[in-house]
Amino acid sequence: MPRLFALSASARSQGSRSRQSTDHAIVSFREAGYEIDQIDIGQSPPPFADDLFLRASFTPREALDDTLRAALAYSDSMIDRIDAADEVLIATPMYNLGMPAALKAWFDQIIRPGRTFTMTRDSASPYKGLLADRPVHIITARGSSAFAKDGAAAALNLLDPHLEALLNFIGLAQFHHYDMAGTDEPEFDADLAISAMAIKPSYMPVALHAA
Ligand SMILES: Cc1cc2nc3c(=O)[nH]c(=O)nc-3n(C[C@H](O)[C@H](O)[C@H](O)COP(=O)(O)O)c2cc1C
Repeated sequence: MPRLFALSASARSQGSRSRQSTDHAIVSFREAGYEIDQIDIGQSPPPFADDLFLRASFTPREALDDTLRAALAYSDSMIDRIDAADEVLIATPMYNLGMPAALKAWFDQIIRPGRTFTMTRDSASPYKGLLADRPVHIITARGSSAFAKDGAAAALNLLDPHLEALLNFIGLAQFHHYDMAGTDEPEFDADLAISAMAIKPSYMPVALHAA
């Protein structure tokens, strides 16, 4: 059975547009036969990459003691969950031109030397992502339509380029963007915006095609 790893990053517990979109997308994936592995880092934020984590992260695996290994437990489990997924969905608001702190903390947990990226000897391409590539569906919610692709403040949108750069860094490059801009504007119609996204699995196993 194919698997979707779905992450929501809104700090809102009620009325989050990006989480509503995630729920909507998950229905499509379930209908297509996907198993869903879901996490809400807005409600349960990841630990920060602190001193212990960083020491553990740069210690060779065979030299890890129990304390250092425990400091990597969240990171290891997240990387394993991404690796077990055929597709990834990340739903996030724009906060202050970029991603919420919880999502940055999550990336700080999963970007690990020797596990998700490595350095090369090629000066033209010094980093190599170690995860196998797979589709990543990126849902974004922004209060103002000025930050949309063609909006007046599009140049201040640091969210999408940062997300793509971090995902690319660990080897993921197949992006599908679904943007909800103007969520805090009076004329915003959430139901219309969410149904217009039409988020669908991009990978269909042979068995489902044949069915
Ligand atoms: C702390 C904070 C910062 C925000 N910064 C921006 C911003 O820079 N640009 C913008 O268009 N909207 C901004 N917003 C509005 C949110 O992007 C908008 O409400 C979005 O729908 C939130 O996602 P959610 O509905 O999934 O919670 C901000 C909201 C909060 C709470």
